[in-house]
Amino acid sequence: MGQAGRAIDDRYWRLAFVAITAVSLGACSSQQSALHPAGEQARDVADLFWFMTISGALVWCIVMGTAIYAVLGKKRPRSERFADRFVLIGGVVFPTVGLAALLVYGLSMLPSWTETEAPDLRIHVVAEQFWWRMAYEGADGVRIDTANELHLPLNATAEFVLTSTDVIHSFWIPSLGGKMDAIPGRTNVLRLTSSKAGVYRGVCAEFCGPSHALMAFPVVVHEADDFASWLEQQRRPAAASTGAGAEAFRAAGCGACHTVRGVSEAGSVGPDLTHFGSRRTLGAGTLPLTAAHLADWLVAPEHIKPGVRMPSFATLPDAERDAIVQFLLELK
Ligand code: CUA
Repeated sequence: MGQAGRAIDDRYWRLAFVAITAVSLGACSSQQSALHPAGEQARDVADLFWFMTISGALVWCIVMGTAIYAVLGKKRPRSERFADRFVLIGGVVFPTVGLAALLVYGLSMLPSWTETEAPDLRIHVVAEQFWWRMAYEGADGVRIDTANELHLPLNATAEFVLTSTDVIHSFWIPSLGGKMDAIPGRTNVLRLTSSKAGVYRGVCAEFCGPSHALMAFPVVVHEADDFASWLEQQRRPAAASTGAGAEAFRAAGCGACHTVRGVSEAGSVGPDLTHFGSRRTLGAGTLPLTAAHLADWLVAPEHIKPGVRMPSFATLPDAERDAIVQFLLELK
């Protein structure tokens, strides 16, 4: 290979290194990171990760050190007794004790099968292609429907009751704990205890179709008082129920799929939009919620989220579409 060829080769490798580093560091944002725990169960996961990684690295160093010594070390005769002992300790005792210790430590992290304490709150989550139906169980047993955004009180244990209506999804908030599958015809239960206020990101962790990667949700952990007022606000019917926007919403048939309590309550196919304007994102974590994004979404939802069941409203006159956008954004 000539000098020029080698220079191009070098540049190629440098570029590849930068790209791989950037991609892996990009995954280190603390909004969605199992290594920046903001909950008790996530702390266990992070501890387990570091313990296993460091232990594995130690074993690797010992094995490589021995191998290098065997190849490069000074050759001198050893007694048969020494050789037997070396094999017995290094090959039998060390792996047995080491692996057993790692196994016991790992198993000690398994959640208890017999949970007796009641959780601080219970949230029913139904995963669908490609969004999350969420319902908070009130103290009076009444469910408060919402979608695609979780709010949790700080230092409290939430119990998630998970299922799915179509295919297998998986509910995962890396900053708060491990994941749990949402399976059609089955109910799984996951408990997570928050320990740090902030905004995190939950995702679907099981491939479920073309928009699997666009099935996320913001998770807001706030002080108990702030959470209580958020929940109280979610319990109320829609902020605006009359006006041109509400009329356009009804006339366009949006209510056939979406419920806006106080405006149109028959829709159960798509997400509940009663307090849609208070959410941070559009399309289950796909885009930040802005008027421009919402207008684009109404025109071509399929372009933003492949496989979405929502039809296009491109044929709607601009004025009506704008009125619907305004109406939805005002649903705080
Ligand atoms: Cu739902 Cu992946």
